Amino acid sequence: MRPRGPGALFLLMPLLVASSAQLGAQNCVNKQQLLTAIRQLQQLLKTQETRFAEGVRSVRSRLAALQGSVSRVGPDAPPVTCPALKAPPDGRKFGSKYLVDHEVHFTCNPGFQLVGPSSVVCLHNGTWTGAEPHCTDVDECVSPQHLCPRGTTCVNTGGSFQCVSPACPEASGNVSYVKTSPFQCERNPCPMDSRPCRLLPKTISFHYLSLPSNLTTPIALFRVATASAPGRPGPNSLRFGIVGGNGRGHFVMQRADRQTGELILVQTLEGPQTLEVDVDMSEYLDRSFQANHLSKVTIFVSPYDF
Ligand SMILES: *[C@@H]1O[C@H](CO)[C@@H](O)[C@H](O)[C@H]1NC(C)=O
Ligand SMILES: *[C@@H]1O[C@H](CO)[C@@H](O)[C@H](O)[C@H]1NC(C)=O
Ligand SMILES: *[C@@H]1O[C@H](CO)[C@@H](O)[C@H](O)[C@H]1NC(C)=O
Repeated sequence: MRPRGPGALFLLMPLLVASSAQLGAQNCVNKQQLLTAIRQLQQLLKTQETRFAEGVRSVRSRLAALQGSVSRVGPDAPPVTCPALKAPPDGRKFGSKYLVDHEVHFTCNPGFQLVGPSSVVCLHNGTWTGAEPHCTDVDECVSPQHLCPRGTTCVNTGGSFQCVSPACPEASGNVSYVKTSPFQCERNPCPMDSRPCRLLPKTISFHYLSLPSNLTTPIALFRVATASAPGRPGPNSLRFGIVGGNGRGHFVMQRADRQTGELILVQTLEGPQTLEVDVDMSEYLDRSFQANHLSKVTIFVSPYDF
């Protein structure tokens, strides 16, 4: 390749000089035109800017509208439902749809009464027309009509009642009992030298408990303790035991403290059934037997697991 000589440079130079000279010559004439052009360009820019901002605004609002309609009618928007309801303990629930306008009814098992509305309806705002009701046991024993025959005592149980007639053992030989309260018998004093009489319970008390079905065990149901008269020396040791009853296999007797024994249910019970368990507390003074006390505990197991 032939290197460029200074001649090539020389040729270009006059051209540049000529054009700048030409500009210089037309300077005064075109200034006005240039200012006009600048203003026009500024105007154009301003218009473009305004249009652009308007465009952005319109795109924004269309986007927002689109988002709104997606969240309103989106396929994954769930239908309005009310909170799930449960059957009240000791009662039943009818209806299991919790959608708007659906109705749910409640009833209680026999022997229980409903507290609260017997039916609720699901509203459009996802709430029920009322609070969930519950069932409470009817205390039949306070009813004005006497449900139990004369000579018996009414005992309220879960969902029902029982008529009981605690009776003292019949007199035999030197031994006799007297009823000191509806639920307590006391042995009449024994003849001085009658040991068989002294070995029989000094007091017999009757206790009635009402239990639900399927109670979680073990659970303490009943306590027995000595009550020594103030100022008199009481027994200095106690022994507790289960001495009878058709339900004895379901229970153990356990010492709660020096003075107290506890009857513990160790097997789950299913109702309806009635169990009896006889609990003995024997008093000793310096290891010599003083007296014993019998608690006859009757347990009514309800058919319900309230
Ligand atoms: C639902 O609507 C009912 C009646 O229209 C009203 O009484 C209730 O207060 C509302 N509950 C809520 C949480 O908005
Ligand atoms: C009754 O007590 C007397 C002594 O007072 C005694 O001789 C008799 O054997 C006792 N009877 C019975 C059945 O315990
Ligand atoms: C108690 O539990 C048994 C066994 O789990 C069950 O079959 C029965 O229905 C329950 N009874 C009640 C009243 O809940």
